[in-house]
Amino acid sequence: MGGRFNTREGEENKVVGDRIQQIESYVRQAMSTVTAPDLRIAHDFKHVDRVRGWALRLASGEAIQNLDLIEATALLHDIGLTRVEVEQRSQHAQVGAEIAAQFLLEHQLFSEEEIGIITDAILCHSSPCGGGTLAGTLQSFSGWW
Ligand SMILES: [Fe+2]
Ligand SMILES: [Fe+2]
Repeated sequence: MGGRFNTREGEENKVVGDRIQQIESYVRQAMSTVTAPDLRIAHDFKHVDRVRGWALRLASGEAIQNLDLIEATALLHDIGLTRVEVEQRSQHAQVGAEIAAQFLLEHQLFSEEEIGIITDAILCHSSPCGGGTLAGTLQSFSGWW
């Protein structure tokens, strides 16, 4: 994703770049510790990196201002796989949202409101939120951008 940061200028943007690098390093390291074959299949850091690439590609076609929210969410979306057993895989979104909230708050990488947006997205990435209805799902994402 190197090119994106080259277009940014100023000290504030350097910090923005650094926080994404910080998240990436954390996710890379954490996902390298997943040893269960059933959890690793198609869900190693390469998967996360592909999701990040697609998320940014899709976002570039939308009027989305804060691409860091997109990138951070994509990077962290499967972090729950690092703390669940194979039979708990269905809970990895819930677990991942909690891990991401803790990490982002601890390192103060986003505002509390932004962290709420990121963790809501992680929570909803593998099963429908809002009671499984389209309206409920859309409602749960209201105010995203
Ligand atoms: Fe997932
Ligand atoms: Fe995934």
